[in-house]
Amino acid sequence: MNLSKTYRVGRQAIPAVHGVTLDVPDGKIVTLLGPSGCGKSTTLRCIAGLERPDDGEIFFDQRPLFSRARGIAVPPEQRNVGMVFQSYAIWPHLTVFQNVAYPLQVRRLPPRQIAERVREVLVLVGLSGLEDRPGPYLSGGQQQRVVLARALVYRPEVLLLDEPLSNLDAKVREQVREELRSLQRRLGITTLYVTHDQLEALGLSDVVAVMQAGGIVEMGSPQDLYARPAHPFTASFLGEISFISGTAASADGEMVEVLTSCGLLHSLRSERSLAGKPVVAGVRPEHVRLSRDRPRDQTNVLEGTVVSSLFEGTRVKCRVAVGDVTLLAYGDELFTLDERLYASIEPKHLMLLPHLAR
Ligand SMILES: Nc1ncnc2c1ncn2[C@@H]1O[C@H](COP(=O)(O)OP(=O)(O)OP(=O)(O)O)[C@@H](O)[C@H]1O
Ligand SMILES: [Mg+2]
Repeated sequence: MNLSKTYRVGRQAIPAVHGVTLDVPDGKIVTLLGPSGCGKSTTLRCIAGLERPDDGEIFFDQRPLFSRARGIAVPPEQRNVGMVFQSYAIWPHLTVFQNVAYPLQVRRLPPRQIAERVREVLVLVGLSGLEDRPGPYLSGGQQQRVVLARALVYRPEVLLLDEPLSNLDAKVREQVREELRSLQRRLGITTLYVTHDQLEALGLSDVVAVMQAGGIVEMGSPQDLYARPAHPFTASFLGEISFISGTAASADGEMVEVLTSCGLLHSLRSERSLAGKPVVAGVRPEHVRLSRDRPRDQTNVLEGTVVSSLFEGTRVKCRVAVGDVTLLAYGDELFTLDERLYASIEPKHLMLLPHLAR
């Protein structure tokens, strides 16, 4: 809660995290999503007890783990968290069994219990049968599962995962991501996950917290943040989007009129009142319909010129210049360069966001 951390290197102060407040509900998976250097790892390391925050408090349920005001700082080994680090490593001179057993040996469990727990957790991550395999003779995805097993084997209350899939290639990453999600659900283990990959965050999380420059910009369910973000940064970080700046007029019934450089547009009214304010209207490429003929009965129709049209297998990615704005559209038709066409956007798909000065 209200966590802050500034690194000091010599005389230099590097502010990493300021005023981060976050709640990870029991059994849920919450993701910190943000660009490189925004303070994700620092937040995680503070929770694990590997960094000492300058200010704030950290609780597991009611138990305080850190409180600057009360002078509490529980050492990492007493926090009962499992952590997978950003640059993970399995120990190459040890077998799968020995790698996973290590945290239990450190905790001095009797050998029979160790054998049993390791067997259990290897079944869980789908590695049974590979106990005696030396670390280097495993695929990337298998090594990743060893690391995960090592974090799970002592049954932590909370799992902290710092970009655990970033070392894997795209296909394996997707597979391990799905496995991780179902494992987390089955175990019901409270998890805080860190990534800069928006697809990973959207696919894995119950709640996503978007971070920028050491703070949390916005939190919500993946669906809400994607479809109804409150901040332009969230909107653009979670997926492709085109922005048109303008000014919101007052709402007329269900619709809000927006005066833009591309003409008058309409957006569905939301609970946020932006009347009279500078706004950006955002639209996701899957919601921009392109056609050669002017569509009838459409509210927002823009006339433009094709800047690019690329076949990408499952879709055609098209950029259309409309006045001083370039709209990105996904469709199934290829267009030719400089072709004149119409882009239409349903009012419910035109998001209105506050125009924030940079
Ligand atoms: N040990 C350290 N000493 C000094 N500065 C640090 C240290 N670790 C991180 N920083 C700085 O703190 C800020 C936040 O770093 P952090 O590692 O938390 O970012 P991140 O969001 O995890 O980024 P990435 O996605 O690249 O892993 C950055 O400006 C970084 O340079
Ligand atoms: Mg990091």
